[in-house]
Amino acid sequence: MEDMPSALPDGEPVPDDGALPASALAGAADRPLGFYLHVPYCATRCGYCDFNTYTATELRGTGGVLASRDNYAETLVDEVRLARKVLGDDPRPVRTVFVGGGTPTLLDAGDLVRMLAAVRDEFGLAEDAEVTTEANPESVDPAYLAALREGGFNRISFGMQSARQHVLKVLDRTHTPGRPEACVAEARAAGFEHVNLDLIYGTPGESDDDWRASLDAVLGAGPDHVSAYALIVEEGTQLARRIRRGEVPMTDDDVHADRYLIADEVLSGAGFEWYEVSNWATSEAGRCLHNELYWRGADWWGPGRARTVTWVGCGGGT
Ligand SMILES: C[S@@+](CC[C@H](N)C(=O)[O-])C[C@H]1O[C@@H](n2cnc3c(N)ncnc32)[C@H](O)[C@@H]1O
Ligand code: SF4
Repeated sequence: MEDMPSALPDGEPVPDDGALPASALAGAADRPLGFYLHVPYCATRCGYCDFNTYTATELRGTGGVLASRDNYAETLVDEVRLARKVLGDDPRPVRTVFVGGGTPTLLDAGDLVRMLAAVRDEFGLAEDAEVTTEANPESVDPAYLAALREGGFNRISFGMQSARQHVLKVLDRTHTPGRPEACVAEARAAGFEHVNLDLIYGTPGESDDDWRASLDAVLGAGPDHVSAYALIVEEGTQLARRIRRGEVPMTDDDVHADRYLIADEVLSGAGFEWYEVSNWATSEAGRCLHNELYWRGADWWGPGRARTVTWVGCGGGT
């Protein structure tokens, strides 16, 4: 059985009734509660990414095991209701909601708002709840962002990765340079208080100058949060295969270390404070509370980790 290929990720699914062990419930009242809502769809797969996400072609290959995009919001809302049943009369309002992916913004804005409304209806949101969605730069426009803001989202995280076209090409990104920066302006115009840009450093072919150009582009765009990740070559990805075939050079740990120092120098010089391994924010209010909630061992429920059941596993969140 061990070698049997599976369309589902590793890990133990929770039982059908969603029951939690007593140890998970002990002392819960003293811990903040968050929700990570996973949306496992992408238009295309970036060569470096091994996240639990499916393109339309990959989805067909799963033989219908996974919920389709069309009824995904409904499926997820059912899981939020299941969480309510499992947690019974737990009085905690939800402190953070993070919609991650995949590409959540491949769904209609109304779907994301419906999923959030389910959390609000079933649990209630804390007055100052942080409500984030991830978004791909090419998948949103001002009307979409306005609908999210109106529906209760107050933080958005765009996958920028690089400002240089040749780096985006190695990463198989489909957005054009400049689009993530425009997204920040559109998100601000829609009323988003908090905006993050994700960057990746150490991509084969990226120079120090390219990296500095990406950081400068971020500063020019004016987000209040930056996540900068060293490129990880994940087994089984297209990038790993290209490196093995010698088409692309392997990443270099020393280069990664240098780029990390450059990131801290540039971001700190522009008023960002480093507060977690890969994260910088302009103020305490700009930090990703959902991410901090993971680090502090708070409680979170993760509908949509796979199929139609809730999986115990690692959520995303910056
Ligand atoms: C769930 S993903 C992305 C959100 C969105 N789908 C996008 O790509 O714009 C969150 C972030 O993880 C980072 N990431 C994913 N795979 C990575 C890898 N192999 N190495 C480094 N960073 C990675 C990227 O910066 C990405 O924006
Ligand atoms: S990095 Fe984002 S867009 Fe690319 S495959 Fe992964 S989740 Fe999808």
